[in-house]
Amino acid sequence: MNDATNLAPSDSRRAFVKKFISGLLSALLGLVPLGAGVAVFLDPLRRRSSDAGAVRVTPLEALPADGIPRKFPVLGTRVDAWNKFSEVPIGAVYLRRTSDSQVQAFNVVCPHAGCYVDFLPERGRYRCPCHNSTFTIAGKIDDPSSPAPRGLDALEVQVREGKEIWVRFQNFRAGTAEKVPVA
Ligand code: FES
Repeated sequence: MNDATNLAPSDSRRAFVKKFISGLLSALLGLVPLGAGVAVFLDPLRRRSSDAGAVRVTPLEALPADGIPRKFPVLGTRVDAWNKFSEVPIGAVYLRRTSDSQVQAFNVVCPHAGCYVDFLPERGRYRCPCHNSTFTIAGKIDDPSSPAPRGLDALEVQVREGKEIWVRFQNFRAGTAEKVPVA
């Protein structure tokens, strides 16, 4: 005869509860590595980002030296779920020549809530069509009643070999006074 058959009803109930709890704990502990495995498997879904490296935007000669900003698309690499796409649109920039060989670059995205800003040549200002934030040609907030919490996001720009404009393209979090890069 085994011990279980010798147990009183209350002992056998206790033994059953003990077994049940230990079984439940084992099952829960088993879920931890499963959860970690699922997180690793799904990781590419969380890496939905644009390449923050320098990208060639345009030849310098395509940007007139009249001090007026022009909008250019930015092509780069986008990682989306399990795929990596090259030379796809990842954003846009305003470029402006500040001298024959120097260029200023801004991300076109409004730092208030993410709309694309327009440049108004007749006013020499940027204006966001969504909630009317305005920015000077240097990217600073123009009208103090603008809801944007900071000026336009300047980007690092290089003129390589005197003929190609490269920009370190980056998006930043909207709605904050600080410029916080978005991964
Ligand atoms: S998104 Fe530009 S002002 Fe609101």
